[in-house]
Amino acid sequence: MITLTINNKNYEVDASPDMPLLWVIRDIIGLTGTKFGCGIAQCGACTVHLEGTPIRSCSFPAIAAVGKKITTIEGLSAKAGEAVQKAWIELQVPQCGYCQSGQIMSAAALLTKNPKPTDADIDIAMQGNLCRCGTYQRIRSAIHRAAEMI
Ligand code: FES
Ligand code: FES
Repeated sequence: MITLTINNKNYEVDASPDMPLLWVIRDIIGLTGTKFGCGIAQCGACTVHLEGTPIRSCSFPAIAAVGKKITTIEGLSAKAGEAVQKAWIELQVPQCGYCQSGQIMSAAALLTKNPKPTDADIDIAMQGNLCRCGTYQRIRSAIHRAAEMI
């Protein structure tokens, strides 16, 4: 058994040593806002925060997150996180929506570190989050909008 702290709540879970964090979050705990896309750290759909830093939970062993603060889309509530979610709604960013929780997690982490990012800053921070629907322009606009709100 391992204990994980997710969205400020402790969960005791029966996870094998090599089980990826995403499996625990979705299949054991039932927080399904974080998505499974590629499973090989290439698309960003599974992005969560570990101590505020975005990580690919599909390729991160759950055991390595013991004792650290994990935040998923369901627990995203800090100032930057709220501004991002408001901006996403205001600019109607999602199309199919599948990639969007990962996009939002990466955007919130960016704005927490850099409240006034340039287009280049955004492109660098978001380059690991793919969107098959091509919402990249709206994502960039929404990050600028969220920065104004902050
Ligand atoms: S599902 Fe984790 S990066 Fe694609
Ligand atoms: S909104 Fe469809 S994959 Fe991004």
